[in-house]
Amino acid sequence: MIRYGVVGTGYFGAELARYLLKNDGAKITVIYDPENAESVAEELDARVAGSLDELVSSDDVDCVIVATPNYLHKEPVIKAAKNGKHVFCEKPIALSYADCREMVDTCKECGVTFMAGHIMNFFNGVHHAKELINQGVIGDVLFCHSARNGWEEEQETVSWKKIREKSGGHLYHHIHELDCVQFIMGGLPETVTMIGGNVAHNGENFGDEDDMIFVNMEFPNKRFALLEWGSAYRWGEHYVLIQGTKGAIKLDMYNCRGTLKVNGEESYFLVHESQEEDDDRTRIYHSTEMDGAIAYGKPGKRTPMWLSSIINKEMKYLHEIMEGAPVSEEFKKLLTGEAALEAIASADACTLSINEDRKVKLSEII
Ligand SMILES: NC(=O)c1ccc[n+]([C@@H]2O[C@H](COP(=O)([O-])OP(=O)(O)OC[C@H]3O[C@@H](n4cnc5c(N)ncnc54)[C@H](O)[C@@H]3O)[C@@H](O)[C@H]2O)c1
Repeated sequence: MIRYGVVGTGYFGAELARYLLKNDGAKITVIYDPENAESVAEELDARVAGSLDELVSSDDVDCVIVATPNYLHKEPVIKAAKNGKHVFCEKPIALSYADCREMVDTCKECGVTFMAGHIMNFFNGVHHAKELINQGVIGDVLFCHSARNGWEEEQETVSWKKIREKSGGHLYHHIHELDCVQFIMGGLPETVTMIGGNVAHNGENFGDEDDMIFVNMEFPNKRFALLEWGSAYRWGEHYVLIQGTKGAIKLDMYNCRGTLKVNGEESYFLVHESQEEDDDRTRIYHSTEMDGAIAYGKPGKRTPMWLSSIINKEMKYLHEIMEGAPVSEEFKKLLTGEAALEAIASADACTLSINEDRKVKLSEII
């Protein structure tokens, strides 16, 4: 039996716990959330801890799931590790390279697993794209282009997810595409440049994050990436496009499908686990066109079909690792927090770039 404690049982933490429980030999023993613990604990047959310290020091916890707001990940991760507990932490693992470094180093020193919730790595389509690249099907990768855009209307209440200090804004909160591009490019860029600003969402019914951002990355050997995010785009898009010397791959999450283009011929593959899931994601994006690719969850809300399926896959993987399964080569950096640390290194370089209006070398951050 592997016993899990969950810190933060809002939208995502509760779902992670529900899907963990589907695995034989998994039990949620303790939950800590100052606002939303009771109902989730009752549903999952867990007890409620009165404090974070109580949860992380509980004898009946082997692994701690951290799903608090982004700016509140560091304390539970470090305390869990120091109590000898393995850790799964939601993305972004923290909002600065220094904090991420401390978290990764502490987990390493304490000899515990530190898995980052970079769930995009579990997409069928992302795995397939990596396989195609490894097999040389599209030749050498020269350029990646990602977009995650939509339009945000005025909010009745402003979520922490829209406040820069708490979420990091689109760049940190939606770190998935940056992490995915760095996985495909095989590591960190040498330099980054970021421009953008809050162009259309000022006022009390909005947060203070930039609603339009553009990142340029220069990787070794003349390879490039362009990434864009934001909530000031009336034409919603969500994709990662990978351009190689022999062909190209598009992972389109908006009109959900994967496309391989070689010699002018297109062939298609699934982004998620089934055509039904891909179609459901397309339907959701098109039926909430104003949100585009920037829809957010909140406590009590359930995840859509495609996301539930990926959470299920991600939690199954975590549970197998906890039961002693070997870490696959593909996920080595994901299971030490190193990949997440590298993503935040680039995000911090982007922040420095926009703040100082200049191109920034990654060596200035790491
Ligand atoms: N991988 C993904 O696709 C994905 C999707 C959604 C959210 N997330 C991540 O999951 C995390 C949680 O997001 P969410 O959507 O569930 O947000 P949420 O606002 O729905 O839930 C956050 C919960 O944390 C609780 N909380 C606040 N302070 C706490 C503290 N100090 N200790 C314990 N609990 C505390 C809140 O009461 C709330 O229940 C974030 O890091 C977010 O980025 C990841």
